[in-house]
Amino acid sequence: MTLLVVDPRDESQFRRWFGVLQRAELHRDQGRGTGWQFEEWRAIALDPFAPGDVLAWSVGGTMAAVSCLRMTTLDNLSSVRADLFVEPTLRRRGYGRALLEATEERAKKAGRREIVVYAMEGAHEVDAAPNRGFAPCMGYEVGDDSRRLDIVWPLPRATRHALRDEWQPYATDYDVVSWLRDTPDEFLEERARLAGTMLTAAPWANLEHEDEVWSPQRVRTHESTARDMGRLLMVSVARLRSSATLVAYSELTISELAPETAYQWDTLVSPEHRGHRLGGLIKLANFDLLEASGLSPRRISTFNSTVNEPMMRVNRALGGALGGAAVLWRKTLASSS
Ligand SMILES: CC(C)(COP(=O)(O)OP(=O)(O)OC[C@H]1O[C@@H](n2cnc3c(N)ncnc32)[C@H](O)[C@@H]1OP(=O)(O)O)[C@@H](O)C(=O)NCCC(=O)NCCS
Repeated sequence: MTLLVVDPRDESQFRRWFGVLQRAELHRDQGRGTGWQFEEWRAIALDPFAPGDVLAWSVGGTMAAVSCLRMTTLDNLSSVRADLFVEPTLRRRGYGRALLEATEERAKKAGRREIVVYAMEGAHEVDAAPNRGFAPCMGYEVGDDSRRLDIVWPLPRATRHALRDEWQPYATDYDVVSWLRDTPDEFLEERARLAGTMLTAAPWANLEHEDEVWSPQRVRTHESTARDMGRLLMVSVARLRSSATLVAYSELTISELAPETAYQWDTLVSPEHRGHRLGGLIKLANFDLLEASGLSPRRISTFNSTVNEPMMRVNRALGGALGGAAVLWRKTLASSS
């Protein structure tokens, strides 16, 4: 049994690594979901701002378990986020434990004092997936627990208009602006500033974050990463009319290669501008972009922390129904010295 460090630029090796992840995702979703695409994970692993340390546990030449540490380079340097998947046919043989221990060692060697492992759950296994037994026995505690809500698409136009009519009177001081793919130059600085506060302005059950360091260049890299993933990025923002300050943004993305599910990425309303229904209004603006895109997903999926009741309320108003869950498991790593 060996630990392999996988090079995401080595197409055949990375495809074998991705195959384990993909089979684990299909198993979780009982063959129904399409999960991440190969191009998407390659773009994640090659993100210049958080390159992946991509690992595999090889047993007799077969990759039995795979993991990836997302090594942030500019911020949140004492913590690291990880993903871990064991081949469905090779579970309960100790491979998950072996690879997670090796992954923790790599994280410690890189100077990280906390590891946060991400676990997704299908609709049929919310609160009852293997991670719920595995992670506590590996010394992890829940950092955050979120629910996936699915909004059936197309959401009828009449429903969207009714919601907009209901919410618009709360937001008379703001303009909503939308675009596809690249942020217009005039919004770039402001979008970078807001994105930097996303982790600290959102509520988490039991996780602490620093502001992220975002520059216009990082926004551009984010946009080109989405493009490399084969995803269409739809963005809507709210701007305070009196000062032209951006106070909210929301991202909706869809794979142009596998357009069955559109995913909600970030949605943030600055704390001092909450209560004006801006979260719902900018999501609706993205839905207009989705309608105009010509792509025909069957649902829009969004993940919300169970402690983020206001965001859940917006998504339920948009028709969101339980479609799965995601848990962030955290562990403090003892220093390796
Ligand atoms: C969770 C997962 C990584 C476990 O991998 P694994 O190789 O089966 O785990 P191991 O065999 O190393 O198990 C180590 C211990 O974890 C616990 N454990 C593992 N799977 C469990 C399950 N389904 N139910 C209860 N406990 C479980 C057991 O105590 C086990 O020891 P035992 O087999 O001697 O009883 C695997 O099921 C998986 O890939 N799930 C989908 C992806 C995922 O959830 N990743 C994030 C994990 S935090």
